[in-house]
Amino acid sequence: MTDGADENINDDRMNRQESPRETATRASYDAIAGLYTEWIADELTAKPHDRAVLGSFSELVLSTGQAEILEIGCGPGRITAFLAALGLSPTGLDLSPAMIAIAQSHYPTMDFTTGSMTSLPYPDDSFSGLVAWYSIIHVRDDDLTTVFAEAARVLRPGGLFQLAFQLGDRVDHQSEAAGHDVELDFHRRSIDSVLVSLHAHGFTPVTRLEREPDRAGRFPEATRQGYLLVRLGAGAQDI
Ligand SMILES: C[S@@+](CC[C@H](N)C(=O)[O-])C[C@H]1O[C@@H](n2cnc3c(N)ncnc32)[C@H](O)[C@@H]1O
Repeated sequence: MTDGADENINDDRMNRQESPRETATRASYDAIAGLYTEWIADELTAKPHDRAVLGSFSELVLSTGQAEILEIGCGPGRITAFLAALGLSPTGLDLSPAMIAIAQSHYPTMDFTTGSMTSLPYPDDSFSGLVAWYSIIHVRDDDLTTVFAEAARVLRPGGLFQLAFQLGDRVDHQSEAAGHDVELDFHRRSIDSVLVSLHAHGFTPVTRLEREPDRAGRFPEATRQGYLLVRLGAGAQDI
């Protein structure tokens, strides 16, 4: 492909219009960014499985001698910061400017960018790892294939992609949160269905974990939780 063709593709991506669903999701998280940040602040301390999954991901990426990773849908940056503390060099991206403003003010030495995971503002082969931590839950099935195509584009061959999401097979809708009007869809999916979509973009499974909901904890869960680690391509040698 010529440089000119590459530029056209990049222009197309940058000029992409936000979908009505993305507009609603962005406005909703802008409205509740402060509340969400306060509520979720010390959630990881109550979630040993989450820390273990993020720890394994970090070790696997670092074992390749690389450290650049991207969190898509980073919200207030708490997971991005946790990954930085484990030795990675993370960047965070989120649809909500209010979330990104909070992330940047809490972690001023780290890089955060406003944008959509359906149209990532990074060149091909930019990262050795990618994390989507409870963020594809807001992406419609139709758009998920675009998100995974973008993930495959910005990851280096052999790169690792860690996802976490609530398990199920329905879409929940929320129109109010702590007195704020919101319009948020929550897509519950199975690990198998997400894997099918990832496989179409060249990802192969590394680790799949399902756990029962922690209904009585400080952060009560209504559904089973899924963690899925995939690799771009079949082997680790190219990362
Ligand atoms: C449940 S929060 C999770 C935030 C963070 N990963 C965490 O665990 O604290 C979901 C986040 O995904 C973001 N998000 C939803 N759709 C997005 C998209 N298309 N592109 C980028 N971010 C998106 C929202 O703005 C929100 O901050």
